[in-house]
Amino acid sequence: MKGIVLAGGYGSRLYPATKALSKQLLPVYDKPLVYFPLSVLMLAGIRDILLITTPEDKNTFQRLLGDGSNLGIRLEYTVQPSPDGLAQAFILGKDFIGDQDVCLILGDNIYYGNDLIRLLSSGVKHARENKKATIFGYYVEDPQRYGVLKFDSQGKAIAIEEKPKSSKSNYAVTGIYFYPNNVVKKASEVKPSKRGELEITSINKMYLSEGNLNIEIMGRGYTWFDTGTPDSLLEASTFIQAIEKRQGLKVACLEEIAYEMGYISKSELINLSKLINNIQFRQYLTKIAKYGREK
Ligand code: G1P
Repeated sequence: MKGIVLAGGYGSRLYPATKALSKQLLPVYDKPLVYFPLSVLMLAGIRDILLITTPEDKNTFQRLLGDGSNLGIRLEYTVQPSPDGLAQAFILGKDFIGDQDVCLILGDNIYYGNDLIRLLSSGVKHARENKKATIFGYYVEDPQRYGVLKFDSQGKAIAIEEKPKSSKSNYAVTGIYFYPNNVVKKASEVKPSKRGELEITSINKMYLSEGNLNIEIMGRGYTWFDTGTPDSLLEASTFIQAIEKRQGLKVACLEEIAYEMGYISKSELINLSKLINNIQFRQYLTKIAKYGREK
């Protein structure tokens, strides 16, 4: 399975913080925002990843992450000239996807939860074995800001509506989506919505009407943030700070995940740590190399 991180957009609600810098490069506590979605793909076992950025920011992302080889993954970059919708990721990524299944994650989404790997693996499995798409529903206070699920009396999802005025449930569709390869063809059939975008919801509706949409509920034990506003960015930072300080363990530390997932060896992790000029961070990686994995 291939992975796409969509890190385009103007970040207009974060202006002027985003005037000269992409939203996904802004810090969330101790690391750039894009590390969080990237770490989720790595935890899902996905090592072949396309980063879609704005033309202005592509070089900066490349400077940050390179070709991924130091993390035992492969990173490619392409640009989305203007933010014409999430479904465009599959049109821009057509050659990259080739004949594989694909997971799309939004570059401003943060996920945290003990059982995340298991939840993600069900998306990978459904695409591979059943040719089904998987999306995740999360209970939120303000569903109107999102794609919203509607359920029948048996609790079966029967509709998805993009940013409804009055929502039929509190379950928002989060920004991570697993698809079988036929998503590329489906994306080419999507017509722009009223807001002029190629909506991911249009693709999800196609799978729903075919009976090929698996919906997983991301329960109360999970945290999901999208970080499009100053408040949500600050809340996410405070959340990550609290978890990291309490446990002394980092969230979305790409080097640690690469090591724990077996993408790089212990000596490669130690070599990586030697290049880091932040002493605390270097010591953290040394500790992981010493005590990680065997936990
Ligand atoms: C997009 C999707 C929406 C989804 C949300 C998750 O919204 O269109 O269905 O619930 O991401 O973050 P947008 O970020 O384009 O407003």
